[in-house]
Amino acid sequence: MAPVAPTSQQWVEKYRPRQVKDVVHQEEVVLTLTNALETGNLPHLLFYGPPGTGKTSTALAISHQLFGPELYKTRVLELNASDDRGINVVRTKIKDFAAVAVGPGVSGYPCPPFKIIILDEADSMTEDAQNALRRTMETYSKVTRFCFICNYVSRIIEPLTSRCAKFRFKPLLDNMLSSRIQFICREEGLSLDSEALTTLNHVSEGDMRRAITYLQGAARLYGSSLSSDNIISISGVVSDNVVHSFLQACRTGLFDQAQKAVADIIDEGYPVSQILSQVCYASFSSSSQVDY
Ligand SMILES: Nc1ncnc2c1ncn2[C@@H]1O[C@H](COP(=O)(O)OP(=O)(O)O)[C@@H](O)[C@H]1O
Ligand SMILES: [Mg+2]
Repeated sequence: MAPVAPTSQQWVEKYRPRQVKDVVHQEEVVLTLTNALETGNLPHLLFYGPPGTGKTSTALAISHQLFGPELYKTRVLELNASDDRGINVVRTKIKDFAAVAVGPGVSGYPCPPFKIIILDEADSMTEDAQNALRRTMETYSKVTRFCFICNYVSRIIEPLTSRCAKFRFKPLLDNMLSSRIQFICREEGLSLDSEALTTLNHVSEGDMRRAITYLQGAARLYGSSLSSDNIISISGVVSDNVVHSFLQACRTGLFDQAQKAVADIIDEGYPVSQILSQVCYASFSSSSQVDY
């Protein structure tokens, strides 16, 4: 079947939840933010947890829902790791934005009297830059709320984290990935058999961005009807058969066989780190049945 025509839009953007209530599996933060939408009270926020679990989507959704399209630009400042966020930017751009007085709201949106500064991938900011934020946060807390987003909370300095309501985003469960992936397949006219769906869950490891990116990549390359093998090849994961035959060769105890298996793997050009992690996983999970 012909590959699906490439479109410029990334599906991770196209299928981002637009509203906080559409963020799945992160009930605690959804509840807090739903309250904030009703009351207009919002604490400083810290979202942390593994990639592809909804942190950025949640921050963008609450900001859009609070201010609507018209006020968004003047009330929300989004900065991520690709923006310069060194100490000078903290002292100038962030401080200037924080210092501006808030104007009137617009009808149809809560428009509470503060601005939001989203610092995505905040764990990549230097400690100096983070320290410089302390003052800004203190001085302008009446008219500004910060939303820090990171993978590793331990990389954010305590004076910042202690001012925030902290929410840990959990890896998504297989059934949640599946239902979202099936929804996207319906929207995009793809068919994915159940084996392919299981494989996609497996290789995505609870990361929805990865699941959606692999799906789009596979659709571009292989067309609208996708098999488990298509997903495996796009994900860079090595097929289980390869891993098992390698382990079997090692278990014969014959050096020549093991060496040949290694040579075959090198010839295929599989990434070493990927092979090693899968070999570890496979030998660990089957160790109960094997005697070494
Ligand atoms: N909890 C979730 N609920 C719904 N969609 C999600 C969720 N987590 C991730 N996604 C999807 O995965 C993609 C990446 O999400 P994102 O919010 O950027 O993740 P993070 O910032 O945690 O790395 C988005 O397209 C979004 O649609
Ligand atoms: Mg993110």
